[in-house]
Amino acid sequence: MSLVNTRMVGQIAVLEINSPPVNALSVQLRSDMLKALTTIAENTDVAALLLHCAGSTFICGADIREFDAEPLSPHLPEVIARLENFPVPVVALLHGHVLGGGLEVAAACHYRIADPQTNIGLPEVSLGVVPGAGGAQRMMRLVGVENAVQLATSGRAVKVTQPEYNAFCDALLSDTSFSHLEGLLALGLHWVELALQKGELVPRATANMALDQGEVDWEALTAKVARSAKSNPVPNKLLAQLQRDLCLSVQESESHTRHLFLELRQSLVAKALRHAFFLEKKLQAPRGKQPLRIDQVGVIGAGTMGGAIAICFADAGFKVVLLEQSEQALSAGLERIKVQYQGSCDKGRITQQQCDVRISLINGSCDYSDVADVDLVIEAAFESMEVKQSIFAKLDEVCKKSSILATNTSYLDINLIAQATARPESVVGMHFFSPANIMKLLEIVNADQTAPAVVEAMQQLAKKLRKQAVTVGVCFGFAANRMYSRYGREIQQMLLEGASVEQIDNAMLDFGMAMGPLAVLDLSGIDIGHNARAQYPQPEYDPGYFKVSTALVNAGRLGRKTGLGFYNYSTAKPTVDQEVAVLIKKVGDELGIPQQHFNTESIQQRALLAMISEAAQVIEEGIVSEKEAIDLIWLHGYGFPRAKGGPMFMAEQYGIGSLQAKMEKMRELQGEKIWPSLELAQYINQD
Ligand code: 3HC
Repeated sequence: MSLVNTRMVGQIAVLEINSPPVNALSVQLRSDMLKALTTIAENTDVAALLLHCAGSTFICGADIREFDAEPLSPHLPEVIARLENFPVPVVALLHGHVLGGGLEVAAACHYRIADPQTNIGLPEVSLGVVPGAGGAQRMMRLVGVENAVQLATSGRAVKVTQPEYNAFCDALLSDTSFSHLEGLLALGLHWVELALQKGELVPRATANMALDQGEVDWEALTAKVARSAKSNPVPNKLLAQLQRDLCLSVQESESHTRHLFLELRQSLVAKALRHAFFLEKKLQAPRGKQPLRIDQVGVIGAGTMGGAIAICFADAGFKVVLLEQSEQALSAGLERIKVQYQGSCDKGRITQQQCDVRISLINGSCDYSDVADVDLVIEAAFESMEVKQSIFAKLDEVCKKSSILATNTSYLDINLIAQATARPESVVGMHFFSPANIMKLLEIVNADQTAPAVVEAMQQLAKKLRKQAVTVGVCFGFAANRMYSRYGREIQQMLLEGASVEQIDNAMLDFGMAMGPLAVLDLSGIDIGHNARAQYPQPEYDPGYFKVSTALVNAGRLGRKTGLGFYNYSTAKPTVDQEVAVLIKKVGDELGIPQQHFNTESIQQRALLAMISEAAQVIEEGIVSEKEAIDLIWLHGYGFPRAKGGPMFMAEQYGIGSLQAKMEKMRELQGEKIWPSLELAQYINQD
């Protein structure tokens, strides 16, 4: 069956692409398009061609699922050349997303008309490749060099109505009465008919348009692109290529970027980014058949976490009751929320109207009866079992029977929290990461008695909240904090073995982590983890276990909040503090820890080994049921470099033999309890 349909409406040939869900340019679609274009070109009755897509969107790019195989003919540049050189005017009717190869197709058409809600973008760099069919070069001619380069190197989509991209479209079909695709199509046909009547439509190749190079500061642009691309080298490669080719024709320059596209497709960075793309889609896939029945939520605790959770729900359009113990704490919490929303509005992130609506969705209360009818309550109170159990007992008493009772605890045993109620099947963990309204990761904690329908509801809810959710089981720190804690343990152990604070942070920054692990500790407060660990016995087999944190806390160095932590914050730029080095050396000497020489590579490798080791245990113990959850946690919870795919992706690149050998060596040095033997072959693919 063909993926395109053609029909005549008067003298206009309408070519409809119908390849759900996103009209991706698969080899079959490219082939079907070429066949249809040949037939239409032969029809002498045709005065113009209108190209549009069925479904919710225009073409969203090449079919990424084909990227692991050899590229098959016909290739996209052939389709694009055919459209650009078509004998009659070609008009692209755009809606939904116009991305990657889709934007390249649209840019090669002679005219573009669009629904004003349309998004346009060249996301190739976020997949580790570059636009492979001359999209960047044609966009340079349509919207100017700098705007096109911004679009192609950032990978971010923009609204077609954004002023810098005005010249991309010849018309916006801004009649808001259409609500269906047929309405848009009728408007598009009308636009073409009128333009034909007026004699305004002629075939015109974008590639032949003059290039206004404008005043681009390439040096500044290169620095800016490098800053935002972080560990992804592709945006800068693309930028350099486009700059080198500025004086060339579109065809010549396109052949260079095509070559680069084909070369990059097989690179490790591109494979890692594709891995990240597909695992996000897999874990976001809709779960369950029951519709989500959550309209109103309650949040217990208006502190930093509770406030951010309330914002997260209000952002998604939910009504929120924010509950506090005292009027004073409540009004302080509500005020913080207002200030935060107003700040977003002042920065232009949301409109004043959105700001007002969202603030109005959050209502404060000090009375538990106000959460009696909510569909979901999220407790974000002080991290203490006693406090949480008493809150859950109260919620059990007041909330309607169908309410889901969630806790945002980061470490505590949810099975024990659930025991404080007579409905443990309704109790679940919703572990947000701070700041809850910004961080994408959400751990849904499936406790022993949580009902499957409750877990399903949380998974559906996560999508509405635009979170990347992973479902995990109960253990200390669940999957995410447990793995991060293991990484932290290894970092502190390396300090005790002689690595310096700046060596560690620089090595992990060089690896691509968003922040150095010790700078992170300073930011969040060294006492937080220290206090959480203090509630549990120290592992007697690990004498150095977070002893550096203990020493710093005992010295009153709690991090940024006290002006001193791993770094000294008394000046605008944090500085390395020799006192810390002395403190760490003292602890290491007291414990008799042998010293060794570290370099960037050895630090990175050991940190990664620790992540993989704990991840493997989390999988083996069934704390996560989908191994993809591991990489998602690191990418969205802890700033792991996306261009490296995540620890499990990297484990596959190392290979099982090499990993086992490295872990064996660590086991000999530190013991079986810290580096246990693992069944890596069960969940690490080997080629
Ligand atoms: N190829 C293959 N499958 C794709 C795809 C693509 N380009 N884009 C999306 N899909 C799939 C998804 O995997 C998902 O599949 P599933 O239902 O089996 O899980 C399905 O389409 C629906 O996608 P989403 O759930 O993401 O739907 P949304 O509506 O939330 O988002 C989207 C739609 C904005 C298009 C988003 O999917 C997206 O950003 N896709 C990637 C677009 C992209 O990167 N295109 C560039 C490709 S590279 C290229 O074009 C090279 C060229 O220059 C030669």
